[in-house]
Amino acid sequence: MNDIKPAVEVRAVSRTFGGRKGASVTALESVDLSVAPGEFVSLIGPSGCGKSTLLRLIADLDTPTSGELSVFGKPARQARVDQDYGIAFQQAGLLPWKTVTGNIELPLALHGAGRSERRARVSELLELIGLTDFAGHYPDQLSGGMQQRVAIARALAESPKLLLMDEPFGALDEMTRERMQNELVRICAETQAAVVFVTHSIPEAVFLSDRVVVMSPRPGRITDVIDVSLGGPAERDDSLREDEAFFRGVAKVREALHGVPVAGARGVDTR
Ligand SMILES: Nc1ncnc2c1ncn2[C@@H]1O[C@H](COP(=O)(O)OP(=O)(O)OP(=O)(O)O)[C@@H](O)[C@H]1O
Ligand SMILES: [Mg+2]
Repeated sequence: MNDIKPAVEVRAVSRTFGGRKGASVTALESVDLSVAPGEFVSLIGPSGCGKSTLLRLIADLDTPTSGELSVFGKPARQARVDQDYGIAFQQAGLLPWKTVTGNIELPLALHGAGRSERRARVSELLELIGLTDFAGHYPDQLSGGMQQRVAIARALAESPKLLLMDEPFGALDEMTRERMQNELVRICAETQAAVVFVTHSIPEAVFLSDRVVVMSPRPGRITDVIDVSLGGPAERDDSLREDEAFFRGVAKVREALHGVPVAGARGVDTR
């Protein structure tokens, strides 16, 4: 049967925010995007070009002004109800009254996983994010980067088939960031998860992605889609970061971004 549904399908989606005194901002205009199951797609573009808006629409945290979105063939709303995806946004969004363990196991608890299953999964995830010693700490006892890692672990708790991530590594130091990127590549290979990943870092987008979607601001549009796939998880290790193919990918994305109006180019990391 040939009915494999895309993980994400965005068709002719526009989102206009009404402003005071009638002024309005077209955050997205006529955006089309299809993400295949297991595919890793990054969104990159100047500050204000609508990346977070697009992610929020996919997650059904906002509704489009026009156009259609589906997640695994379902309306975005249904996918949210069914919890078909994990979310990690820039603000960690942890529950302050729950410990690190309590926060990570929350999605599992909501779905009725038993205590021993939850504890086993949480200890795996704590190891992954390097916070085993902080299992009993509360969010306000952690640094911003540590909180962010807890939020990532929570998003991964149920091994979702789709991950929506908005600058999830923005608050991490460079070493931790690269380690989390390596882990994300491994996790995606293991779980076959599709990922829509917002970042300001060109190298990060190139290292992680099958495709990089370049956007321009006001109105937010997709201006380029660049194939950068640098191979499977076995090839994507630290040595790739010094590889010719990697530098070529970085150059391609940078050139595409330079086609984007300079007025909106603040906030784009052009390392
Ligand atoms: N709730 C809202 N109400 C009004 N305008 C909004 C709202 N959310 C976003 N916008 C506007 O939509 C545009 C796109 O915002 P968005 O947050 O999607 O940008 P972004 O690409 O994620 O930027 P950044 O890289 O800075 O995070 C901006 O001009 C912003 O002011
Ligand atoms: Mg944003």
